Amino acid sequence: MSKTPTVVRAPAPASDRLTLDVLEGLRKSPKQLSAVWFYDEEGSCLFDSICELPEYYLTRTELRIMREHADEMADAIGAHAALIEFGSGSSEKTRILLDKLDDLACYVPIDISRDYLFETAGLLARDYPALRITPVCADFTQPFDLPVHIAAAHRRVVYFPGSTLGNFEEDAAQRVLTTMRTIIGRKGAVLIGIDLRKDPNVLKRAYNDAAGVTAEFNLNALRHVNRELGADFDVDAFEHSALWIENQSRIEMHLISKRDQEVHLGEETVRIKRGEHLRTECCHKYTLEGFAELASRADLAVTRVWTDPEQKFSVQMLEAKKIQ
Ligand code: TRP
Repeated sequence: MSKTPTVVRAPAPASDRLTLDVLEGLRKSPKQLSAVWFYDEEGSCLFDSICELPEYYLTRTELRIMREHADEMADAIGAHAALIEFGSGSSEKTRILLDKLDDLACYVPIDISRDYLFETAGLLARDYPALRITPVCADFTQPFDLPVHIAAAHRRVVYFPGSTLGNFEEDAAQRVLTTMRTIIGRKGAVLIGIDLRKDPNVLKRAYNDAAGVTAEFNLNALRHVNRELGADFDVDAFEHSALWIENQSRIEMHLISKRDQEVHLGEETVRIKRGEHLRTECCHKYTLEGFAELASRADLAVTRVWTDPEQKFSVQMLEAKKIQ
């Protein structure tokens, strides 16, 4: 078997399509900017720094849960599975699974950040020489192709760590779960990291750290739009803010304009007032019951829940609901 990863490339979306998407968000009230813009190379590096912040308990807690229960998780995944990861980033958590899964049929990391994806796939190929790795560069909220060879695996298991599902609005989260349910069929499984509801002050600190790394990460979305689409956001004239919205059970990340400004993008001029908010990200926090209900609407049942002693975070296994 060849050790060189086979590559499935999705074409980069046309830049005028992206411009229209950004303009559409900026016409909303309150204004919005898609979180897709966080993840250029610089953004991906900043994100890795967020994961190490003392206030940001999510990654640390999830890693701990993964390490403590890796054997059980590997058992639950089973033999000769295709492991398909949504939003793979640095694949750090995946390594914990890969270390236990020596008979995996293949690993398919999917990520929107092309350079980062291929760099990570290269590092993994070096560390797991016997593993077939097929990176897919795609936005997993849009239709994408999976490599045909996953059909040979005994079952398909989608891995979605990092509480990334919480970054989708409820309808979109349900659609992502439905996509996963379609991929896994009746026999497969989803292994997903879900952050749990807790003291809002702990949450607000996690998304507004003292060192200002999350602020830089949020502001970088504007830099990315400037660079990629030729816009002229005055990045220094924005301020980061993280708000807890109780009735939606979510943290919202905003960028607040410090002055009146005009931004030029494509053919259009967008006016942003002093004090006006651009919403960039939502981070929903679930109760175990609330998440089970969401999964159920995508025809998925929670079959295992692993958590830390303080129930800060959870890693859950979902499988197709039994036909009654
Ligand atoms: N999904 C993680 C979370 O909700 C990571 C994440 C996504 C994040 N977007 C973010 C972290 C924006 C900080 C800021 O926390």
